[in-house]
Amino acid sequence: MINHDNIANLENITDAVLNRYNYEKHSLISILLDIQTNFNYLPKEAMIMVAEELNIRVIDVYSVATFYTVFSLKPRGKYIINVCVGTACHVRGGRRIVDKIQKELNIDVGETTEDMQFTLETVRCLGACALGPVMVINGEYYGQLSTKKANTILQSYKVQEAAT
Ligand code: FES
Repeated sequence: MINHDNIANLENITDAVLNRYNYEKHSLISILLDIQTNFNYLPKEAMIMVAEELNIRVIDVYSVATFYTVFSLKPRGKYIINVCVGTACHVRGGRRIVDKIQKELNIDVGETTEDMQFTLETVRCLGACALGPVMVINGEYYGQLSTKKANTILQSYKVQEAAT
């Protein structure tokens, strides 16, 4: 994912994040979260740089990154779709929302479309149970979903993307 053309950009962003946290080892999780916000995943080159700059072992950075499910070591799409499959959403058809989006994007849960636009993930609860079924796309909540409504929302992202 990261090639020679954008390695400099990766170094600049990683350095800026490290600076923001004054290169403090105890801020490792926040540093990794900020880096992930920039790239939508944690590039291994950034983890190596963080380890070097904080003077800690790469394996320790990697251990943190793999321990917390919030981190992704795999490249993810521009839009991350999280569909809730927790109990409250499940009983209202959350699984059907997942199935519909899988079908529309032609990917499974945990996968990213070939054009790197969409990643589909599921979560156990989004803290909005009363609105179930719920999905979140890049932090934007969509509730009381039907398969039709979920697809309309998905298509609106595709249209928006095609227009840019
Ligand atoms: S179970 Fe879906 S938001 Fe809580």
